[in-house]
Order: sequence, then C-alpha cells, then structure tokens
Amino acid sequence: MAQPQAETRLEDYRPYPFRIRAVDMDFRLDPDATRVRARLDVERVEDGAPLVLNGEALTLVAVRVDGAALPPERMAVDETSLTIDGLGARATVEIETTCAPAANTALSGLYLSNGMFCTQCEAEGFRRITYYPDRPDVLSVFTVRVEADPARYPVLLANGDRIDAGDTDDGRRYAVWRDPHPKPAYLFALVGGDLACVEDAFVTRSGRTVTLQVYVQHENKDKCAYTLDALKRAMRWDEETFGREYDLDVFMIVAVDHFNFGAMENKGLNIFNSAYVLASPETATDYDYETIEAIVAHEYFHNWSGNRVTCRDWFQLCLKEGFTVFRDQEFSADMRSRPVQRIKDVRRLRAMQFPEDAGPLAHPPRPDRFVTIDNFYTATVYEKGAEIARMLKTLLGPADFRKASDLYFERHDGEAATVEDFVAAMAEASGRDFDQFFRWYVSPGRPTVTIARDGDGFVLHQETPPPASATGKDAAVADGPRHMPVVYRAYDGATGERRGEGVFELRETTARLPIDPAGAGPLILSAFDGFSAPVTVRQDRTLDERLFLARRNADPFNRWDVVQGLWRDLALDVGFDGADARAAAQSGFIEALADALADDALEPAFVAELLKAPTAAELMQDVDAADPDAIVAGRAALRRAVGGALAEPLAAVRERLKLNGPYAPDAEQAGARALRNAALALLVAADDDAPAVAQARMADNMTDEAAAVAALAGSTRPARADALAAFYEKWKGEPLVVNKWLGWRALSPAPDALEDVRGLLAHEAFDLGNPNKVRALIGVFARENVAAFHRVDGAGHTFLADRILEIDARNPQLAARLVSTLESWRKLAGPRRDSAQRALTRLVGAPDASKNLLEMADRILS
Ligand code: TRP
Ligand code: ZN
Repeated sequence: MAQPQAETRLEDYRPYPFRIRAVDMDFRLDPDATRVRARLDVERVEDGAPLVLNGEALTLVAVRVDGAALPPERMAVDETSLTIDGLGARATVEIETTCAPAANTALSGLYLSNGMFCTQCEAEGFRRITYYPDRPDVLSVFTVRVEADPARYPVLLANGDRIDAGDTDDGRRYAVWRDPHPKPAYLFALVGGDLACVEDAFVTRSGRTVTLQVYVQHENKDKCAYTLDALKRAMRWDEETFGREYDLDVFMIVAVDHFNFGAMENKGLNIFNSAYVLASPETATDYDYETIEAIVAHEYFHNWSGNRVTCRDWFQLCLKEGFTVFRDQEFSADMRSRPVQRIKDVRRLRAMQFPEDAGPLAHPPRPDRFVTIDNFYTATVYEKGAEIARMLKTLLGPADFRKASDLYFERHDGEAATVEDFVAAMAEASGRDFDQFFRWYVSPGRPTVTIARDGDGFVLHQETPPPASATGKDAAVADGPRHMPVVYRAYDGATGERRGEGVFELRETTARLPIDPAGAGPLILSAFDGFSAPVTVRQDRTLDERLFLARRNADPFNRWDVVQGLWRDLALDVGFDGADARAAAQSGFIEALADALADDALEPAFVAELLKAPTAAELMQDVDAADPDAIVAGRAALRRAVGGALAEPLAAVRERLKLNGPYAPDAEQAGARALRNAALALLVAADDDAPAVAQARMADNMTDEAAAVAALAGSTRPARADALAAFYEKWKGEPLVVNKWLGWRALSPAPDALEDVRGLLAHEAFDLGNPNKVRALIGVFARENVAAFHRVDGAGHTFLADRILEIDARNPQLAARLVSTLESWRKLAGPRRDSAQRALTRLVGAPDASKNLLEMADRILS
C-alpha cells in the first residue's frame, strides 16, 4: 500500500514572514534550457525567520544577495525549496535558474505547445519557473523582460502593459512588460511564439479605451470573432451588473492546443485551451459557441473575483471559483434564456457534483485539508460553490446582494481574502446573520429534504449528512441543519389556480410551509423552484400531480424536473404499481410531451430540454448495485417508444422551425436548432434514420451536422458506420472537429466499443500528449459509455488503469482527473465492483505513481 501522504491543513495557515515589494524577471527563451533571472526586493515582516522559496524541476545557477554571491552556509537547496538565512530588514535577492520547457509534459510551469512557449501557474506552477514564495497571499508587482529568437518567437507577451521592446546586438528580440497591479505568482503568464493577432477595442464606462487582442496560430485567424464579441459583452455586463470596470490598457487572450483545463485568468493575459476560443459556423456547434461565451466571461470576471481580490490560501478556492461560476451563469442567463440556462446548470451540477458528494471524494466547498491542491479543482468547489453564492443572492434579494458584493470588492481590493470575509460582507451589507449559513461552506454532502403532506399543508424535514472530520473552528459549525431558501408555489388541485407562493427560509430540521390551505381542493406543491437550494428533494406525488406539474407548472425549472423524473422512473421502471400503472404513466408522459411540442408559446430551447432523457450515466446514479446493460436497454426502449409515438409531432416541429438564411450563433436560432435536433435524435431512436442521414449530408453548419452524425453514431443503424467515416474524411484536417468524432466513437453502443476505443489509441487522430484528445476519447468512454466501460469481464476498468499509468508518467494532473471516473465504484455490483476495485488497487500500488494520482486513487478506494 501507498505511504500515507502529507496533508496541508487550513488550521496551520501562517502569514508569510516577508513581503516581496517588487519582482524583476528576465527570461532568455530556449526550448531545452530557458534561463530565468529573478530579482526580488525583499522586506522582512517577522523577525528571525529564514526566507523559504518554493522551487521544483529547476537547475540552480547562482544566488546573490545585495549584489554578492551567497556563501553556501547561508543557503540550503532541496527538491522543492531554496532557503536563505540571515537576511536583514531589506534585501535584494537575485536568483538565476534554468528550466527545460520542451521536456515539460506536465503542462504546468513554462512549456511548449506546438512550438510556442506558454505558462500555466495556477495553482503551483510558478515554482517550476523560478524559486519564489509560491502562495496566493504573497502579492507583488512584476516587471518581466523576455528575450528570444525573433525568427521563431516574434511575439513575446507577459502580464500588464508593454513598456519597452527592441533588438539585441546578437540578433535576438526582447520585450519588457510591467503589471502595476500587485498579484500572486499563480496569475503570472508569459507567451512566446509565432502568432497571429486579431484586435478590437472596448470603451469602459468611464471612457477609457482598452485594446482587446486574441492571439492564435495563423491558420486560425478567421475563428476569433465570436471570442472578441463575447469578451466585449462580458466587459459591459460586469460594469452594469456588478459595477466592475477593467483596469489595464490591454486585455489579451492566447489560444493554446495543449492545456490541462478550460482556461486561465492570468492578469491581463488570459491563456485559453484553443477549444474555447476558436469557432466558425462550419466547425463549431451552438453548444461550442455557448461554452466559449461562458468561459471567456468566466475568465474575464476573475479580473475582479480572483485577481483584484484574490485568495488568502488554496482552501479558499471557492471564494474565487464558486463566485465566478455564479457570475458567469448569470451572464449566460442574461445573454440567452434564463430558464434554460438554469436547467443546464443544474443538470451539470447533478451530473458532476452530486456523485462527488455522494461518494468517497465528498468534501466541503471549503475543505480544511488537502494533499495536492490540483486535485481540489472539483465540481464541489466550482459548481456547488456557485450554488452557495446563488442562495446568498436569493436570501438577500438583488439590491442587498449588489450592495454586499460592492462592499466585498471595495473592502478587499488588492488583498488576499477568505470565505469568511465574503460572508461577512454579505451579512454587513444586509444586516442579516449568516452564521448558520456558513455550514454550507464547511460541510460535505447534500441534505435531503422530505416534503410531506400535513393536513391541508406541507411539512419540510431536512436530514443532513454526517459532518466530515473537520478540524479547528470549522468543526464547531459543520454539523446541524442548514439555512436555505425554499422558493415555492402551490396550486389548487381542483381548479389548477395559483394558491400562494414565496421564499421560505428553512433553518430548522422540521418546519411547516406557510401556505393558506383554504380552497377548493388539495394543494399541489412545487417546491425548490429554480432549484433554490442544492438538496435532494423527496416528495411523494400521485401520477396526476406529476402530470399536472409537467404540463402546467409556471416554474420552468420544476416543470422540466418533473418531466426528468418521469423519464427516469419510466426508463428504470421504478415507482409504478404494476404494468397497468406504468403504461398509464407512460401514455400520460407522452401526451404531456406532445402538448409541449404543440405549444408555440414555449421557448423551443426549453422544449428541447424536455425531450432529452437523462443519460445512462445520470441514471446510474439513482440505482444501487446498478446493472449498466439494463439501464442502457431501459433508456433505449423508452426513447424508442417516445420517438415512435411522437413521430408526427416531432416531424412537424422540425418543419415548423426550419431556418432560412445564414447561420448565426444567437440564442434564438440556437434554440430552434436545439429543438429540431432533439426531435431528430428521438426519431433515430425509433429507427427512423432517413432525416438524420439527409441532414448529415446536407447541413451547412456544424450544429446540424454534428447533431445528425451524433444521433446516428449513438444508434445501431446500418447508416452509423458510413456517417462516421464520411465525417472523419471531411474533417480530418480540423483537430477540434476531430475531437467530437473521437467522442462519438467512444460512445459506441456496439458490444465491441472497448476494442474500437483501444484501436483508436493508434489512430492518427489521437495523441496521448494532448489533454483534449485524452478527454475526448478516454474521458468520454469512461464517463459516459457505461455499458462498455463497466463491462462485466472487467476489461474496461483494466483499460482505464493502463491508460492512467501511461498518462501519469507525463501529466499527473490529467491522470489524476481520469481516476474520478471510478469515484462511484461502490455502486456497482458483483464482478464489476471487483474489477473496479482491482483497477484502483493497482493504481495505489503502482511503483512510480505521482502524488496527484496516488491521492485520488487512495481516496476513492478507502
Ligand atoms: N482558475 C482557472 C479557472 O477556473 C482554472 C485552473 C485552475 C487551471 N488550475 C488550472 C487552468 C490549471 C489550467 C491549468 O478559470
Ligand atoms: Zn475560474
């Protein structure tokens, strides 16, 4: 078994004993040995302490203090640090190191992507560039000189404003950048390469002109327009909605092909996974456009929630991430359909965060210990963190919430803050008490709220999961009922009339909803409207009540949620008292869908969501000792029945929403395409593949083309193979498009899907060194192809473990993320569970496994 791994604990936090008043850096870029000189202006804050600097994978060349070489007895170097003793009140520390970008396959620190230099420093990559106090509460102003061979690296970028540039006597070129805003090292960025620049401008509300630049490989120059458009809308929105204005003269986005995440908010110089920058109607789907818009906004919003106000330590990660996800969700809701945005956000939360909260990886949004911080960029920190910010807004109301966020930004501008600081601003601006509410941040797991009829009204009862083994002061607040907003409305069951609505604040374990029961019939209740709190709701409802809500609920989220519940129960065949009851439910369900299809007052994008069954992976969550084959079969049978029964209205809606004229990625067109393509997918599920075959061939945009090919690829129709082959032939020159194709291949419903995926490892389209390709093939396979991945002979699990070990040798962050595909292994039964356990045991025992991988495998197993 693995050695117990060293944990970092929140309660051990101590301020850094020095201030770094300024940093001057000088880079001489070279793929094999880049030379970095760093000059730190150091001021002592605490007596006696040595200066301890983090460093990893560096070659130390020289250290000078106040201009003189440092005697060896005042210095200690090991694998992860450089310690300097005997510094006075103020000193200039100069450090010269080299690092090897071309050999850096971890994509953390300074590395090469397609021959271009780029950096990724969050969370702890800066220490792979130079020795430095690599922690978010050490803020400094950076001046950076970059020098390189102008033939290969004509574009040289760093944070802030360019203050100088020129040529050296020996034929190299340099640029000097200065960022006036004090920042922690994780926001440092540098780029050097041969890049095209697409430029635009934005005038801030106070009248300053900001130059906006997107840097991409030359061949992608014509795919940046939407990114710039989204950026300008995000900048305007943050001014209008949160009162936040941009604060430098230039804002740059650089697209790179090799990237461990979506994007990174480095001050003034965002670095993006190229998948979230590049778009054209021919190569990107509406979903891609929507995602680009959201990620561009997310990174831009970090300029205030993350950069101007940063985190004191990495335990506070949800301070910037949860809040910023909330901000980008609100932006998308304002740009598109608010109800549909909410449905998509909750669907994502349930798909990614609920299993995390229900299994061995459960942790509080603000954890109080970790081994590797890279492993804590989780759905709980991001998505649940956003839900917590949203609850605060619901509790405060829009005006007080804005007052509170203004107070937070103003009070902590230029500082490294804590979650306590954020909640204190919320409390102070509103005069409310959030002590009990704080429990959301420090407790893992999800409350279950049971709603029961009580006489004429309803009683809520919350059960909270056992608290984690919290330490320090978090332990005192972790346990007990949670404070949450319950948005609700009730209908008269006899007349269907609205009978009261409101926001009820649940604080107790048990409480009665304040609804006036007087009326004609028993009430039908819609509670947690808009998913007003991240809980599991248990509520017994009759079929009639469910169908009433599926057709008539004025809250679109809960209307959709009731429909989802019917999809689920019918696919899994649970909760019906016999075959007749099931048949009645199915026909009522299909009628409700038919009504929605015929109702042209409904937004098409919303109706499209109603038509989507939960995925097999989502259904697996709801079943103990799940049999993936049965789940896949039950889901397919239901979709076949629905697609068959609704063949006519589905075809009719496709006809009604046919678009003429040029493609635009706007919400209205995208909504029409979403519904047409959801209908198409159901038709294919019922074996009517002619419209999909035609659409795959004729489509003039990637949204329609991909929807048609995806529908065929997910079927067992004879047209499947041809559609996939033709798609690859057509798009093999576009790597991002090919990634879609890898994903469809990974989702193959055929019994030999695993063999197919294994074969693709050697395909020209695949590359184990590119995280996007790994996620498209191996990630999609393990997360979504539940039948093939959890194959009863265990071959899927063995395959995953083999790949993880291969990937871990180059990129530990990526390998560790893939292990989470086994986080719910305990829900499997029999041989499936055994083989998952064997795969995890193998990872834990692997001789050369990284710290990242070991931590994940170990936590999932234990
Ligand atoms: N802070 C980034 C974001 O949310 C994400 C991020 C964290 C990241 N660690 C990373 C990106 C490592 C790339 C690599 O927007
Ligand atoms: Zn973020």
